[in-house]
Amino acid sequence: MTNKVALVTGAANGIGRAISRRLARDGIAIGVLDLLPDGAAKVAGEIKAEGGRAIALAADVSRRDEVNRAAKELRDAFGPITIVVNNAGITGFKPFLELTDEEWDRMLTVNLKSAFIVTQVVIRT
Ligand SMILES: NC(=O)c1ccc[n+]([C@@H]2O[C@H](COP(=O)([O-])OP(=O)(O)OC[C@H]3O[C@@H](n4cnc5c(N)ncnc54)[C@H](O)[C@@H]3O)[C@@H](O)[C@H]2O)c1
Repeated sequence: MTNKVALVTGAANGIGRAISRRLARDGIAIGVLDLLPDGAAKVAGEIKAEGGRAIALAADVSRRDEVNRAAKELRDAFGPITIVVNNAGITGFKPFLELTDEEWDRMLTVNLKSAFIVTQVVIRT
């Protein structure tokens, strides 16, 4: 058991899920944040079933208001956030010439700007 609290984004699947479960095994409380509420709840449930501490946080990392709400919820549950894993991301696996401006902007926002938003929010929370 430790006082550490981690916010892991994109934690409902893949690498984010694996990071969340690994950190939880070290006694770190986890905010399992994802766009997909059911997936976040499932991973939080897995962690608790293994004896860890976690809450599911449904939020879009590109939305400052949603990240703010999620960070406050995590702090209220377990105390100040001490670790951030900016893992959430999307890929646009399609031919370069078929990518639209909107898809390009969304990729940069979710993959790049979100790290700025999430890190700034966590430091301020
Ligand atoms: N898997 C790879 O080989 C690989 C290689 C290089 C980089 N990456 C990067 O590592 C990260 C994780 O990869 P993965 O393979 O586990 O991906 P994944 O698609 O399995 O999981 C990504 C998770 O992020 C969530 N997510 C997407 N957009 C979100 C948003 N706006 N807000 C909150 N959550 C959001 C998804 O719902 C999903 O649960 C991604 O950023 C990816 O780009 C992966």
